[in-house]
Amino acid sequence: MYRLLRALLFSLPAEFAHRLSLSSLKILLILKKNKYQPPEHSPKQVMGLEFKNPIGLAAGLDKNGDYIDALGSLGFGFIEIGTVTPKPQAGNPRPRLFRLRRSSGIINRMGFNNRGVDYLVENVKKRKYQGVLGINIGKNKSTKLEDALDDYEYCISKIFPYADYIVINVSSPNTPGLRGLQHGKMLDDLLEGIKKVQQSLSEEHKRYVPIAYKIAPDLLEEEVVSICEQLNKASIDGLIATNTTVSRKGIEGSRYVDEAGGLSGEPIFGKSTETQKLFRELLDESIPIIGVGGVFSPEDAKTKFVAGASLVQLYTGLIYLGPSLLKRILAEL
Ligand code: FNR
Repeated sequence: MYRLLRALLFSLPAEFAHRLSLSSLKILLILKKNKYQPPEHSPKQVMGLEFKNPIGLAAGLDKNGDYIDALGSLGFGFIEIGTVTPKPQAGNPRPRLFRLRRSSGIINRMGFNNRGVDYLVENVKKRKYQGVLGINIGKNKSTKLEDALDDYEYCISKIFPYADYIVINVSSPNTPGLRGLQHGKMLDDLLEGIKKVQQSLSEEHKRYVPIAYKIAPDLLEEEVVSICEQLNKASIDGLIATNTTVSRKGIEGSRYVDEAGGLSGEPIFGKSTETQKLFRELLDESIPIIGVGGVFSPEDAKTKFVAGASLVQLYTGLIYLGPSLLKRILAEL
């Protein structure tokens, strides 16, 4: 069924197809039974939260939280919305989303197009989905890199009462300079500032909201070593490995290979899993990892778990294979 639908969707411009699928899903939700409660398969506790099943939706598909219940009805144990920024922003000019059909990949340079954190919070207040909800945050393009902490703090204070967990996105390749926040003094300052705000908001709201970092698969080994030292010292609550890659290895000669942006899907599975493994070796055991990047089958999900992921997220696999991918993975857990 999805194969037929995919033929239609892939014949349309990528962003239009994206909106059409999500709007149709919202309509179909009306017919669904038990729509808000995720099915229970291998339930687990991670970052102090109860997950009915360990398969989630990765950030970027629902940037504004417009489709939480619709996406939740597919059976995800958790959904990550965003990346959201303090102020609304249009993102990069179109075209900015490219399907590399032969290699089952996507290149995107969306550039954090979103309607701003206030709009997202109103959507989150209305959610009926009972799985775990993560909110992924970033900085506005117009905010100077040295003021990035202000944007993260602003978003954290807005979403703190409503998020189950928060993700600091320092790994998108589409916001100039953002990945610089993954290293050295900039990372130390960011970690220190974020931990402080987390502590004071926990006291104010009488609830602890875990904060995870999302990293790129393009780090050198020595960078990973020092990042892990910093993350261990700061006792972060979780790590998401990985975001998209700027590398084009493995897709040489493909259509769109020269388009700027982050590559996702099947071509990044190996690199993303290797990065995850290295982080697992070097991070304190108490810091859980959410594995994401190129999961297209139950075997791929299993490989991420074996490589040390506590939870696994899907994105590009879902675009190519449809919701049956999630059902197949859940059935084999
Ligand atoms: C993404 N991804 C992403 N990640 C993030 O933290 N914030 C975001 O806004 C986005 N936006 C986004 C848009 C599009 C079109 C794609 C394809 C991806 C990255 C995503 O969450 C995931 O980390 C990577 O895509 C790797 O997983 P897959 O897609 O290979 O399963």
